[in-house]
Amino acid sequence: MKEEIANIQSDALTAIETAAGEQQLEEVRIAFLGKKGRLTAASAGMKELSKEEKPAMGQLLNSARAVITKSLETKDRLLQEKADAASVEGLDLSLPGIPLHQGNLHPLTQIKDQAIKVLRRLGFSLAEGPEIETEFHCFDALNTPPEHPARNEKDTFYFDSGKLLRTHTSTVQVRTMENQAPPVRVIAPGSCYRRDEVDKTHLPAFNQLEGLYVDRDVQIGDLKGALEFFYRSMFGEETKVRFRPHFFPFTEPSFEIDALLQLKGEKPQWIEVAGCGMVDPAVFEKICTARGDDLYDPAKVTGYAFGMGLDRLAMIQWGIKDIRLLIENDARFLSQFA
Ligand code: PHE
Repeated sequence: MKEEIANIQSDALTAIETAAGEQQLEEVRIAFLGKKGRLTAASAGMKELSKEEKPAMGQLLNSARAVITKSLETKDRLLQEKADAASVEGLDLSLPGIPLHQGNLHPLTQIKDQAIKVLRRLGFSLAEGPEIETEFHCFDALNTPPEHPARNEKDTFYFDSGKLLRTHTSTVQVRTMENQAPPVRVIAPGSCYRRDEVDKTHLPAFNQLEGLYVDRDVQIGDLKGALEFFYRSMFGEETKVRFRPHFFPFTEPSFEIDALLQLKGEKPQWIEVAGCGMVDPAVFEKICTARGDDLYDPAKVTGYAFGMGLDRLAMIQWGIKDIRLLIENDARFLSQFA
């Protein structure tokens, strides 16, 4: 029996050695160590041995099983390593990978964030108001008389309820003063709506950024300084800005602001970038009436306001010739602003 065990062990080791794959190795394991395997069969012969012979033979059987098992494990690991190596063979690590598509912020969002950042440095904080507004907040409180053309049904989207889609963000001036005691220093970016024909420079929905500063003794110099700082921060230190007298019902005096800008491939030109002015005392009076107090008494406070088109700002910044590109969501256009 001793001899037989030695034979089984050496046969097993040879078989393991020559096994070419995992499948074959498993067959070898079953043939020697399985329930009907040769070593298992040899163990059955223990029954016939005498009590004295049993321990030595048992030891031999155990040691043979251990040697075969160990050899199986070693070979198994070897085969796995070979398979792993084969699976990456011929893999060209210098080939370029498949790039992941990376998104980016919409140019309008970028210009808005940029503008907010600059104005925050001047102490402005963000304010907001609804896009569906009352005539009071959009016109009456802003000293806009009933016969003013902006109130015309031809120019403004009205609801049956009498409410309307705000035509400018100046509504947020009113809402801020209704709800906050002076001093206030707020900016309000947001959507506005007018019944305009769609063309290169007009959309019925567009974006403005409003500003309002009310305190004791706010002066035109403050307005000029703040807006000059703003446009220089946005378009470069050298940017020239001019204030042209204009009319708005809610500011007096009022101005339009032009900046001398050079669009890509063009000569420098004056481009209108905002409306602004000193808050009209008539507006403060309406706010006092709405609030039922005199915190905004025009004898006590003064202020300035401005409003600018954000779409226009983006178009200037990147030389975009057609405003419609900003809403078409064509990835070929948008990916240029990554
Ligand atoms: N609301 C004006 C517009 O839409 C702009 C403006 C805002 C003018 C604030 C003066 C002060 O044209």
